[in-house]
Amino acid sequence: MTAVTSERPLRMGLIGGGGAGFIGRVHVTAATLDREAELVAGALSSDPLRSRTAATEFRIDPSRAYGSFSELLESESRLPESERIDFVSIATPNHTHAEIACSALDAGFHVVCDKPMTTNERDAQAMVDAVARSGKVFALTHNYSGYPMIRQAREIVASGELGRILGVRVSYVQGWMQGVKRDETPARGAWKSNPELNGRAGSLGDVGTHAFHLLRFVTASQPHALLSRMSSYSPHHELDDYGHAILQLDQAATGLVTWSQVSHGRLNDLTIEVDGTEASLAWRQEDPNQLIVRSLGTPTRVYDRNPGAAYTTATAAAACRLPGGHPEAFFEAFANVYRDAFRAMRQVSGELAVDPSPSLYPTVHDGLEGVRFMQRCLESNDNDSSWCAW
Ligand SMILES: NC(=O)c1ccc[n+]([C@@H]2O[C@H](COP(=O)([O-])OP(=O)(O)OC[C@H]3O[C@@H](n4cnc5c(N)ncnc54)[C@H](O)[C@@H]3O)[C@@H](O)[C@H]2O)c1
Repeated sequence: MTAVTSERPLRMGLIGGGGAGFIGRVHVTAATLDREAELVAGALSSDPLRSRTAATEFRIDPSRAYGSFSELLESESRLPESERIDFVSIATPNHTHAEIACSALDAGFHVVCDKPMTTNERDAQAMVDAVARSGKVFALTHNYSGYPMIRQAREIVASGELGRILGVRVSYVQGWMQGVKRDETPARGAWKSNPELNGRAGSLGDVGTHAFHLLRFVTASQPHALLSRMSSYSPHHELDDYGHAILQLDQAATGLVTWSQVSHGRLNDLTIEVDGTEASLAWRQEDPNQLIVRSLGTPTRVYDRNPGAAYTTATAAAACRLPGGHPEAFFEAFANVYRDAFRAMRQVSGELAVDPSPSLYPTVHDGLEGVRFMQRCLESNDNDSSWCAW
């Protein structure tokens, strides 16, 4: 178990997550898992009445249940420093992220924002500028980078054990859209199929950006060009729900990113495989506590998530909360992104000494890269899948 890093919990304001909203509740669980933060305020819906009503479900005091994010920012800014929130978590539709995040940063609050960071490069750049202007922490919840075995995979690649990287395959495959009937509005997230709200990236933004971030996180590779082919098969969906991108990466390596939300029977099948000149590795989100490394002529190695084992790197061990054999998964990985962001927040405030080692939480620059990935895929697909420079 982890010890708390400071005498006081950081104070959280949640934006979104009311009603049937999915990920807002996950943010609260993840942020509070290590008792490093407490939820004290919220603007949980775009509808002021629903926003205030939903606050009771989150045990938010009525005096800090706000009707809108702007009311939350204004009212919290007026509170004494010892009471006001330290950060906001943004769990709202993608097209609202930029305005909320920039307003929160300009009001002096740290931001944890869900992905994709926003729907277009102009807004993404505005978010980069707002982070620089404010000096505040901005963390993007590409939560799969929080898995201990993914952090171990990143270190294995960085150590050179795989040799030169030849290729990377990452796919994020779901199938829930096959269950949505024509003329039926999904119970939640109808905005995801609406180009006027969500921009032109559908499943590409929803799950493709997670896959792309995992590729960059594990291999530290930078794309130089890509080509993409995208399709829309679901009858109720105007935007892409199936696609592939081929990427030219550093050192002539090739990346393949696949995303789908129309693959029958698939749930949250996020997989990464890395092929090097000396060895390969493979990891699957639906079996997240194992990492497989193979090398021709030697037995296959299966790394179990086990903080007590000599083969577990310090970084991977630090991402574990339970001894090996007790399953850890989605919440804990999500909480690791929060924990890294909290450390950075406490460093900014001077509560913790500045740690020179690189931060592991996805930053605003990772978010910009994710938005670029979406834009380049769309450009390539529009141009008959021709190569597009990064
Ligand atoms: N990291 C992950 O694994 C993961 C998983 C699912 C969704 N997401 C992301 O989280 C975000 C939300 O997705 P979701 O699936 O929870 O969507 P959702 O439609 O289920 O929920 C959105 C919530 O935001 C609220 N909302 C909308 N506009 C608002 C505003 N202006 N102010 C306050 N609240 C507002 C809605 O009332 C609702 O409660 C999206 O960016 C999505 O891509 C991330």
